[in-house]
Amino acid sequence: MKCRKCGNEAVINMRQHKLALCDEHFLEWVPEQTQRFIEKYKMFTRDERILVAVSGGKDSLSLWDILLRLDYKADGLYIGLGVEGGADYSNQSHEMCVKFLENFNPPKEWGASSQISNFNVTADEGPQTANTQYLIPKLHVVDIGKLYGETVPEVASRTMRGRDKPCSVCGLIKRHVMNRVARDGGYDVLATGHNLDDEVAVLFGNTLTWNAGYLVRQAPVLPADKPGLARKVKPFCRFYERETAAYALVRGIEYIYDECPYAEGSTSIEHKELLNQMEKDRPGTKLQFYLNFLRAREQGLFADAERATRVELNTCEKCGQPTSAPGLCAFCRLWERHGDAAPT
Ligand code: AMP
Ligand code: FES
Ligand code: ZN
Ligand code: ZN
Repeated sequence: MKCRKCGNEAVINMRQHKLALCDEHFLEWVPEQTQRFIEKYKMFTRDERILVAVSGGKDSLSLWDILLRLDYKADGLYIGLGVEGGADYSNQSHEMCVKFLENFNPPKEWGASSQISNFNVTADEGPQTANTQYLIPKLHVVDIGKLYGETVPEVASRTMRGRDKPCSVCGLIKRHVMNRVARDGGYDVLATGHNLDDEVAVLFGNTLTWNAGYLVRQAPVLPADKPGLARKVKPFCRFYERETAAYALVRGIEYIYDECPYAEGSTSIEHKELLNQMEKDRPGTKLQFYLNFLRAREQGLFADAERATRVELNTCEKCGQPTSAPGLCAFCRLWERHGDAAPT
Protein backbone atom coordinates (compact mmCIF):
# COMPACT_ATOMS: atom_id res chain seq x y z
CA MET A 1 0.00 0.00 0.00
CA LYS A 2 1.42 3.38 -1.06
CA CYS A 3 0.95 6.81 0.51
CA ARG A 4 -1.56 8.83 -1.47
CA LYS A 5 0.55 11.98 -1.12
CA CYS A 6 4.09 10.83 -1.92
CA GLY A 7 4.00 7.22 -3.06
CA ASN A 8 6.19 5.97 -0.21
CA GLU A 9 5.20 2.93 1.82
CA ALA A 10 2.02 3.67 3.81
CA VAL A 11 1.89 3.06 7.58
CA ILE A 12 -1.88 3.24 7.77
CA ASN A 13 -4.80 2.60 5.47
CA MET A 14 -7.99 4.35 6.55
CA ARG A 15 -10.61 2.46 4.58
CA GLN A 16 -13.46 4.74 5.63
CA HIS A 17 -11.63 7.70 4.06
CA LYS A 18 -10.11 5.64 1.21
CA LEU A 19 -6.82 7.14 2.35
CA ALA A 20 -3.44 5.50 2.91
CA LEU A 21 -0.57 7.60 4.27
CA CYS A 22 3.13 7.21 5.04
CA ASP A 23 4.44 8.10 8.51
CA GLU A 24 5.42 11.63 7.57
CA HIS A 25 2.12 12.47 5.91
CA PHE A 26 0.09 10.77 8.64
CA LEU A 27 1.86 12.92 11.23
CA GLU A 28 0.76 15.95 9.22
CA TRP A 29 -2.76 14.74 8.52
CA VAL A 30 -3.83 14.11 12.14
CA PRO A 31 -3.04 17.64 13.39
CA GLU A 32 -4.60 19.15 10.24
CA GLN A 33 -7.79 17.22 10.85
CA THR A 34 -7.75 18.14 14.54
CA GLN A 35 -7.49 21.82 13.61
CA ARG A 36 -10.37 21.36 11.16
CA PHE A 37 -12.58 19.84 13.89
CA ILE A 38 -11.61 22.56 16.38
CA GLU A 39 -12.76 25.21 13.91
CA LYS A 40 -15.79 23.36 12.60
CA TYR A 41 -17.28 22.87 16.05
CA LYS A 42 -15.98 26.22 17.35
CA MET A 43 -14.17 24.54 20.22
CA PHE A 44 -11.64 27.23 21.18
CA THR A 45 -9.26 29.83 19.88
CA ARG A 46 -5.54 30.41 20.34
CA ASP A 47 -6.28 33.15 22.90
CA GLU A 48 -8.02 30.75 25.24
CA ARG A 49 -6.44 28.61 27.93
CA ILE A 50 -7.07 24.92 27.60
CA LEU A 51 -6.86 22.24 30.25
CA VAL A 52 -6.31 18.81 28.70
CA ALA A 53 -7.36 15.92 30.93
CA VAL A 54 -4.62 13.35 30.43
CA SER A 55 -5.06 9.77 31.54
CA GLY A 56 -1.69 8.46 30.32
CA GLY A 57 -3.46 6.74 27.42
CA LYS A 58 -2.84 7.21 23.70
CA ASP A 59 -5.79 9.51 23.04
CA SER A 60 -5.28 12.18 25.65
CA LEU A 61 -1.48 12.27 25.34
CA SER A 62 -1.72 12.53 21.53
CA LEU A 63 -4.29 15.28 21.97
CA TRP A 64 -2.02 17.25 24.26
CA ASP A 65 0.89 16.74 21.87
CA ILE A 66 -1.13 18.01 18.90
CA LEU A 67 -2.60 21.02 20.70
CA LEU A 68 0.90 22.09 21.73
CA ARG A 69 2.20 21.60 18.20
CA LEU A 70 -0.71 23.62 16.87
CA ASP A 71 0.37 26.40 19.22
CA TYR A 72 -2.52 26.26 21.63
CA LYS A 73 -2.06 27.24 25.26
CA ALA A 74 -2.64 23.80 26.73
CA ASP A 75 -1.79 22.52 30.19
CA GLY A 76 -2.43 18.97 31.39
CA LEU A 77 -4.36 17.54 34.32
CA TYR A 78 -3.76 14.04 35.61
CA ILE A 79 -6.07 12.64 38.27
CA GLY A 80 -4.57 9.88 40.41
CA LEU A 81 -7.46 7.54 41.14
CA GLY A 82 -5.56 5.01 43.22
CA VAL A 83 -6.41 2.00 41.08
CA GLU A 84 -3.77 -0.58 41.91
CA GLY A 85 -5.04 -3.49 39.81
CA GLY A 86 -3.73 -4.46 36.41
CA ALA A 87 -0.08 -3.52 36.04
CA ASP A 88 -0.32 -0.95 38.85
CA TYR A 89 -2.66 1.04 36.64
CA SER A 90 -2.73 4.47 38.31
CA ASN A 91 0.99 4.74 39.04
CA GLN A 92 1.88 3.63 35.54
CA SER A 93 -0.49 6.10 33.92
CA HIS A 94 0.85 8.93 36.09
CA GLU A 95 4.36 8.05 34.99
CA MET A 96 3.35 8.18 31.33
CA CYS A 97 2.01 11.72 31.72
CA VAL A 98 5.19 12.93 33.43
CA LYS A 99 7.34 11.19 30.80
CA PHE A 100 5.35 12.78 28.02
CA LEU A 101 6.15 16.24 29.28
CA GLU A 102 9.82 15.41 29.87
CA ASN A 103 10.19 14.04 26.34
CA PHE A 104 8.08 16.59 24.52
CA ASN A 105 10.16 18.27 21.85
CA PRO A 106 8.88 21.76 21.21
CA PRO A 107 8.59 22.57 17.51
CA LYS A 108 11.56 24.56 16.19
CA GLU A 109 9.38 27.65 15.63
CA TRP A 110 9.05 28.00 19.39
CA GLY A 111 12.69 29.00 19.59
CA ALA A 112 15.34 28.08 22.12
CA SER A 113 13.70 29.98 24.98
CA SER A 114 10.77 27.58 25.06
CA GLN A 115 12.73 24.40 25.72
CA ILE A 116 10.84 22.45 28.32
CA SER A 117 13.85 21.70 30.45
CA ASN A 118 12.17 23.41 33.35
CA PHE A 119 8.87 21.59 32.84
CA ASN A 120 6.51 21.99 35.65
CA VAL A 121 4.68 19.20 37.46
CA THR A 122 2.56 20.39 40.35
CA ALA A 123 0.78 18.40 42.98
CA ASP A 124 -2.47 20.25 43.47
CA GLU A 125 -3.34 20.70 47.09
CA GLY A 126 -6.01 23.30 46.57
CA PRO A 127 -6.78 26.27 44.38
CA GLN A 128 -4.28 26.95 41.64
CA THR A 129 -2.97 30.20 40.40
CA ALA A 130 -3.07 30.72 36.68
CA ASN A 131 -0.07 29.66 34.66
CA THR A 132 0.84 32.48 32.35
CA GLN A 133 3.86 30.93 30.65
CA TYR A 134 1.96 29.07 28.04
CA LEU A 135 4.96 27.98 26.03
CA ILE A 136 6.09 25.91 28.94
CA PRO A 137 3.21 23.54 29.47
CA LYS A 138 2.39 22.46 32.95
CA LEU A 139 0.99 19.23 34.35
CA HIS A 140 -1.40 19.49 37.28
CA VAL A 141 -1.57 16.33 39.33
CA VAL A 142 -4.45 15.67 41.70
CA ASP A 143 -4.03 12.56 43.82
CA ILE A 144 -7.48 11.65 45.14
CA GLY A 145 -6.18 9.39 47.91
CA LYS A 146 -3.82 12.05 49.25
CA LEU A 147 -6.19 14.95 48.89
CA TYR A 148 -9.40 13.36 50.16
CA GLY A 149 -8.08 10.56 52.36
CA GLU A 150 -9.54 7.73 50.28
CA THR A 151 -8.79 6.38 46.83
CA VAL A 152 -11.56 5.95 44.28
CA PRO A 153 -12.00 2.18 44.91
CA GLU A 154 -12.06 2.89 48.67
CA VAL A 155 -14.71 5.58 48.54
CA ALA A 156 -16.77 3.50 46.12
CA SER A 157 -16.68 0.57 48.46
CA ARG A 158 -17.48 2.65 51.59
CA THR A 159 -20.42 4.46 50.04
CA MET A 160 -21.80 1.31 48.43
CA ARG A 161 -22.10 3.27 45.22
CA GLY A 162 -20.26 0.56 43.38
CA ARG A 163 -18.80 -1.97 45.73
CA ASP A 164 -17.60 -4.19 42.90
CA LYS A 165 -17.14 -1.61 40.22
CA PRO A 166 -16.09 1.91 41.18
CA CYS A 167 -16.65 3.20 37.64
CA SER A 168 -19.66 5.44 38.27
CA VAL A 169 -18.13 6.99 41.42
CA CYS A 170 -14.92 7.36 39.46
CA GLY A 171 -16.71 9.24 36.68
CA LEU A 172 -18.34 11.55 39.22
CA ILE A 173 -15.01 12.27 40.93
CA LYS A 174 -13.17 12.87 37.64
CA ARG A 175 -15.84 15.30 36.42
CA HIS A 176 -15.73 17.22 39.69
CA VAL A 177 -11.93 17.48 39.81
CA MET A 178 -11.71 18.47 36.15
CA ASN A 179 -14.25 21.25 36.74
CA ARG A 180 -12.49 22.40 39.89
CA VAL A 181 -9.01 22.62 38.39
CA ALA A 182 -10.39 24.30 35.28
CA ARG A 183 -12.27 26.85 37.40
CA ASP A 184 -9.51 27.52 39.94
CA GLY A 185 -6.82 27.64 37.27
CA GLY A 186 -8.80 30.10 35.15
CA TYR A 187 -9.04 27.81 32.12
CA ASP A 188 -11.61 28.58 29.43
CA VAL A 189 -11.89 25.07 28.08
CA LEU A 190 -11.58 21.51 29.30
CA ALA A 191 -10.51 19.05 26.60
CA THR A 192 -10.75 15.27 26.88
CA GLY A 193 -9.33 12.62 24.58
CA HIS A 194 -12.60 10.81 23.76
CA ASN A 195 -12.27 9.28 20.31
CA LEU A 196 -14.90 8.18 17.80
CA ASP A 197 -15.03 4.64 19.17
CA ASP A 198 -15.76 6.02 22.67
CA GLU A 199 -18.42 8.38 21.38
CA VAL A 200 -20.09 5.79 19.19
CA ALA A 201 -20.19 3.22 22.00
CA VAL A 202 -21.91 5.76 24.28
CA LEU A 203 -24.26 6.77 21.50
CA PHE A 204 -25.11 3.16 20.77
CA GLY A 205 -25.85 2.46 24.45
CA ASN A 206 -28.04 5.53 24.79
CA THR A 207 -29.87 4.71 21.58
CA LEU A 208 -30.58 1.16 22.69
CA THR A 209 -32.32 2.58 25.76
CA TRP A 210 -33.55 5.75 23.98
CA ASN A 211 -32.14 7.83 26.76
CA ALA A 212 -33.06 11.19 25.27
CA GLY A 213 -31.70 13.14 28.24
CA TYR A 214 -28.22 11.71 27.64
CA LEU A 215 -28.48 11.84 23.85
CA VAL A 216 -29.20 15.52 23.90
CA ARG A 217 -26.10 16.17 25.97
CA GLN A 218 -23.71 14.21 23.75
CA ALA A 219 -21.79 16.60 21.54
CA PRO A 220 -18.26 17.62 20.51
CA VAL A 221 -18.74 20.84 22.52
CA LEU A 222 -20.75 21.28 25.71
CA PRO A 223 -21.21 24.88 26.78
CA ALA A 224 -20.32 25.73 30.38
CA ASP A 225 -23.13 24.88 32.81
CA LYS A 226 -22.68 28.19 34.55
CA PRO A 227 -20.73 31.38 33.89
CA GLY A 228 -17.15 31.00 35.06
CA LEU A 229 -17.02 27.29 34.33
CA ALA A 230 -15.07 25.83 31.45
CA ARG A 231 -16.84 24.48 28.37
CA LYS A 232 -16.06 20.87 27.53
CA VAL A 233 -14.68 19.80 24.20
CA LYS A 234 -13.66 16.56 22.50
CA PRO A 235 -11.34 17.47 19.61
CA PHE A 236 -10.69 13.78 18.77
CA CYS A 237 -14.35 12.78 18.53
CA ARG A 238 -14.03 12.05 14.81
CA PHE A 239 -10.85 9.98 14.94
CA TYR A 240 -11.05 6.22 15.05
CA GLU A 241 -9.22 4.65 17.96
CA ARG A 242 -6.76 2.95 15.59
CA GLU A 243 -5.88 6.37 14.18
CA THR A 244 -5.04 7.89 17.56
CA ALA A 245 -3.11 4.74 18.48
CA ALA A 246 -1.18 4.96 15.21
CA TYR A 247 -0.46 8.64 15.83
CA ALA A 248 0.99 7.94 19.29
CA LEU A 249 3.05 5.08 17.91
CA VAL A 250 4.45 6.94 14.90
CA ARG A 251 5.09 10.08 16.96
CA GLY A 252 6.89 7.97 19.57
CA ILE A 253 4.63 8.87 22.48
CA GLU A 254 4.82 6.28 25.23
CA TYR A 255 1.44 5.50 26.71
CA ILE A 256 -0.26 2.98 28.94
CA TYR A 257 -1.69 0.17 26.81
CA ASP A 258 -3.91 -1.36 29.44
CA GLU A 259 -7.44 -0.26 30.09
CA CYS A 260 -8.45 0.36 33.67
CA PRO A 261 -8.85 -3.13 35.19
CA TYR A 262 -12.38 -2.26 36.33
CA ALA A 263 -13.44 -1.64 32.72
CA GLU A 264 -13.19 -5.34 31.94
CA GLY A 265 -16.54 -6.81 30.92
CA SER A 266 -18.27 -3.44 30.78
CA THR A 267 -21.16 -2.89 28.41
CA SER A 268 -19.30 -0.16 26.61
CA ILE A 269 -16.52 -2.63 25.73
CA GLU A 270 -19.16 -5.09 24.51
CA HIS A 271 -20.72 -2.38 22.39
CA LYS A 272 -17.31 -1.48 20.96
CA GLU A 273 -16.80 -5.09 19.88
CA LEU A 274 -20.20 -5.20 18.17
CA LEU A 275 -19.55 -1.93 16.40
CA ASN A 276 -16.11 -3.11 15.29
CA GLN A 277 -17.72 -6.13 13.70
CA MET A 278 -20.09 -3.89 11.76
CA GLU A 279 -17.23 -1.59 10.78
CA LYS A 280 -15.27 -4.55 9.45
CA ASP A 281 -18.09 -5.50 7.12
CA ARG A 282 -18.89 -1.92 6.16
CA PRO A 283 -16.03 0.54 6.62
CA GLY A 284 -17.29 3.92 7.73
CA THR A 285 -20.29 2.59 9.70
CA LYS A 286 -19.15 4.12 12.98
CA LEU A 287 -18.33 7.50 11.51
CA GLN A 288 -21.65 7.67 9.65
CA PHE A 289 -23.61 6.67 12.74
CA TYR A 290 -21.96 9.46 14.71
CA LEU A 291 -22.07 12.18 12.06
CA ASN A 292 -25.70 11.48 11.17
CA PHE A 293 -26.56 11.64 14.86
CA LEU A 294 -24.86 15.03 15.16
CA ARG A 295 -26.74 16.25 12.10
CA ALA A 296 -30.07 15.05 13.48
CA ARG A 297 -29.29 16.65 16.79
CA GLU A 298 -28.44 19.94 15.13
CA GLN A 299 -31.68 19.80 13.18
CA GLY A 300 -33.55 19.65 16.46
CA LEU A 301 -34.44 15.97 16.68
CA PHE A 302 -33.92 16.10 20.43
CA ALA A 303 -35.15 19.63 21.01
CA ASP A 304 -38.17 18.45 23.02
CA ALA A 305 -35.97 16.23 25.16
CA GLU A 306 -33.69 19.17 25.70
CA ARG A 307 -36.55 21.26 27.02
CA ALA A 308 -38.02 18.42 29.06
CA THR A 309 -34.76 17.50 30.76
CA ARG A 310 -33.49 21.02 31.33
CA VAL A 311 -33.09 21.60 35.06
CA GLU A 312 -32.49 24.75 36.98
CA LEU A 313 -29.00 24.31 38.42
CA ASN A 314 -28.23 25.15 42.01
CA THR A 315 -24.84 25.90 43.49
CA CYS A 316 -23.34 23.39 45.91
CA GLU A 317 -23.13 24.94 49.39
CA LYS A 318 -19.70 23.51 49.93
CA CYS A 319 -17.73 23.49 46.69
CA GLY A 320 -19.68 25.98 44.60
CA GLN A 321 -20.08 23.65 41.63
CA PRO A 322 -23.44 23.38 39.86
CA THR A 323 -25.76 20.68 41.13
CA SER A 324 -29.30 19.66 40.25
CA ALA A 325 -30.41 19.20 43.87
CA PRO A 326 -30.24 22.02 46.43
CA GLY A 327 -27.65 21.66 49.22
CA LEU A 328 -24.60 19.54 48.63
CA CYS A 329 -23.60 18.19 45.22
CA ALA A 330 -23.16 14.45 44.68
CA PHE A 331 -19.37 14.79 44.99
CA CYS A 332 -19.50 16.54 48.37
CA ARG A 333 -22.07 14.04 49.63
CA LEU A 334 -19.60 11.26 48.85
CA TRP A 335 -17.23 12.50 51.53
CA GLU A 336 -19.87 13.64 54.01
CA ARG A 337 -19.81 10.58 56.21
CA HIS A 338 -16.07 10.58 56.22
CA GLY A 339 -15.99 12.65 59.40
CA ASP A 340 -13.83 15.68 58.84
CA ALA A 341 -14.64 18.12 56.10
CA ALA A 342 -12.80 17.22 52.94
CA PRO A 343 -11.28 20.00 50.89
CA THR A 344 -13.26 20.95 47.82
P1 AMP B 1 -12.06 7.12 29.71
O1 AMP B 1 -13.31 7.50 30.39
O2 AMP B 1 -11.09 6.38 30.56
O3 AMP B 1 -12.26 6.52 28.35
O4 AMP B 1 -11.32 8.51 29.42
C1 AMP B 1 -11.86 9.48 28.61
C2 AMP B 1 -11.05 10.74 28.73
O5 AMP B 1 -11.14 11.23 30.07
C3 AMP B 1 -9.56 10.56 28.47
O6 AMP B 1 -9.26 10.66 27.11
C4 AMP B 1 -8.98 11.69 29.27
O7 AMP B 1 -9.08 12.90 28.55
C5 AMP B 1 -9.91 11.78 30.48
N1 AMP B 1 -9.38 10.99 31.62
C6 AMP B 1 -9.63 9.70 31.91
N2 AMP B 1 -8.98 9.32 33.03
C7 AMP B 1 -8.30 10.39 33.48
C8 AMP B 1 -7.42 10.66 34.59
N3 AMP B 1 -7.13 9.71 35.48
N4 AMP B 1 -6.91 11.90 34.71
C9 AMP B 1 -7.20 12.86 33.82
N5 AMP B 1 -8.01 12.68 32.76
C10 AMP B 1 -8.56 11.47 32.59
FE1 FES C 1 -12.24 4.89 36.92
FE2 FES C 1 -11.50 2.63 36.05
S1 FES C 1 -10.89 4.55 35.36
S2 FES C 1 -12.85 2.98 37.66
ZN1 ZN D 1 3.66 10.24 2.14
ZN1 ZN E 1 -20.02 20.17 46.12
